[in-house]
Amino acid sequence: MTRSATAIAHPNIALAKYWGKRAGDGNIPAVPSLSVTLAGMSTTTTVSFDDTLVDDELELNGAHAESSRPKVRASQLLDRVRAAAHTTTRARIVSVNDFPTASGLASSASGFAALALAAVRAAGLDWSAEQVADLARRSSASAARSVFGGFVELDGGDAPDGTPSLGGARPVAGPTAIDLRVLVCVTTEDAKATSSTDGMRLTQQTSPYYPAWVADAPASQRAIREALLAGDFVRLGELSERSALAMHACAMAAGIVYMTGATLSVLEHVRALRSAGLPAFATVDAGPHLKCLVRSGDAAAARESLERVPGVLRIIDTSPGEGARIVAAGAGGAT
Ligand code: DP6
Repeated sequence: MTRSATAIAHPNIALAKYWGKRAGDGNIPAVPSLSVTLAGMSTTTTVSFDDTLVDDELELNGAHAESSRPKVRASQLLDRVRAAAHTTTRARIVSVNDFPTASGLASSASGFAALALAAVRAAGLDWSAEQVADLARRSSASAARSVFGGFVELDGGDAPDGTPSLGGARPVAGPTAIDLRVLVCVTTEDAKATSSTDGMRLTQQTSPYYPAWVADAPASQRAIREALLAGDFVRLGELSERSALAMHACAMAAGIVYMTGATLSVLEHVRALRSAGLPAFATVDAGPHLKCLVRSGDAAAARESLERVPGVLRIIDTSPGEGARIVAAGAGGAT
């Protein structure tokens, strides 16, 4: 007997970055963040609980990932679902990304959001999106944000009254709240050298600027939310670029350098576009790809110009999109 479900989720790009974790369990961020979920790139994941399996199986982009780190992390998520559903049945996971995996393009965000939703549904659990997001966050905190569409915030650190955050995620505005296109400038197809998790840990342990980052981030996230809700694209862009550069400065002081020469060339180019009167802003995650934020009316001109920057392999044109959703579900006989 099998019970299966297929979910689609999109990556998200943080405008206010999450970098660093609270002490303790639950993979709760040390700072609040705010992201946009991006249509134009997606992960499709099928989870099938199957009584005949002796172990979980993971097929990632057509390749079997036995005893690898992705397989271990996926099994940990399934264990939480099995505990909630009071079952010990193993599952087969088949997951496909239509963009480079593990290279700083947020594949873990869309991957764990799709996996969490498909696993919850396949196990027959009737969970809210908030519960699915809580499950996804335990595997990869940014994945909690991909459960929702549009603009999404993820709690972290302490609330202003000193209460510790529980790492909740919630949508703050729908996909059409502001006119925004995100041009993802792909600079390599390879996986990144240092995972976000390891990069954050090293930053927390050794960056002299980590306390300053944690102290500054909540006000920065609030200002980004205000600019978004006010529909102020230029302010949103300026604050987003600042959050990304603050995160990278903090990580670089710990020896973690995700930007390459190509990233810096694109950054310089984005700033030149701005000087020339085209409002374009940059954000960079834990990898070498730069994401350029522009209004839709400027997307074609910005794209044409960015494509010519040496080191840019291709550009993925994305815009705010939907949250994770189920596209197929059902029960079958013996396989
Ligand atoms: C730079 O969510 O991948 O993309 O919780 O350890 O899995 P873990 O980290 P992850 O970190 C994302 C970091 C970032 C910024 C962001 O998305 O907010």
